[in-house]
Amino acid sequence: MTATSPTDIRRAVRVAADPEALAQAAASVFVTLAMATPKNRDLTVALAGGSTPRRMHEILAAPPHRDAILWKNIQFFWGDERCVPPDHKDSNYNMARETLLEKTPIDPAKVHRMKGEVGPVEGCAAYLKELDHVPAGPDGLPSFDLIYLGMGDDGHTLSLFPGTAPVTDTTNLVAPGYNKNLDSHRITFTPRLLNAARLVVFVVGGASKADVLRQVLEEEGPVETYPSRCARPTSGSVLWLLDAAAASKLSYATLGRS
Ligand code: 6PG
Repeated sequence: MTATSPTDIRRAVRVAADPEALAQAAASVFVTLAMATPKNRDLTVALAGGSTPRRMHEILAAPPHRDAILWKNIQFFWGDERCVPPDHKDSNYNMARETLLEKTPIDPAKVHRMKGEVGPVEGCAAYLKELDHVPAGPDGLPSFDLIYLGMGDDGHTLSLFPGTAPVTDTTNLVAPGYNKNLDSHRITFTPRLLNAARLVVFVVGGASKADVLRQVLEEEGPVETYPSRCARPTSGSVLWLLDAAAASKLSYATLGRS
């Protein structure tokens, strides 16, 4: 069991009034980093799956953000993927393609999707090659500029589900995941790769997440129980973007964390 203390990491918590304001806040982080990236290097971003990112993507794919961002200087990755074809309704890549990539002048050569259709083991092996496009950080691991994460109401993030092997995988950078409730095989970043990032941004909304969010942000305990606790970047930071409903069970101490 790996106990964690919620207080000893570089963490900020921001609360938006409602889902739309949350999506706007998440989009503004993307714009800020994109605008701050020097012209002679690419921004490396890992997108999240699930449903929450949809609205953020739509905001980025529309004026004014669409016309302000140098899309060709952005390398797109995914933190996890379902083992389905890329045009499947459950594909995280497919969701991003529909809501963002098809609507912006990105460089297709800089879109590094996880090949879920080949299965978890082969998909993980193939993705290691894609990570060669991510510059190494101080510890020699691929260090993403920005990783977006969602959180499930069971406290999972990426495809790190409670009690599953990749949650405590300290060796690999990507690993096979499995959601037994959905009988869904996955490819997922491990905590080791996640925590090599410069900035990790959780985007979490809705009252259904409030109880688990309090457990993750305010209670010490094993990462195996609530895998979102694993987000503890070695030299980077974690930003929690929440809407008021998701943040409704948090203490003032947590809400005041800047
Ligand atoms: C996935 C995601 C997963 C997601 C959470 C939250 O592939 O499903 O990576 O970790 O972010 O389950 O999903 P919602 O945004 O739909 O609540």
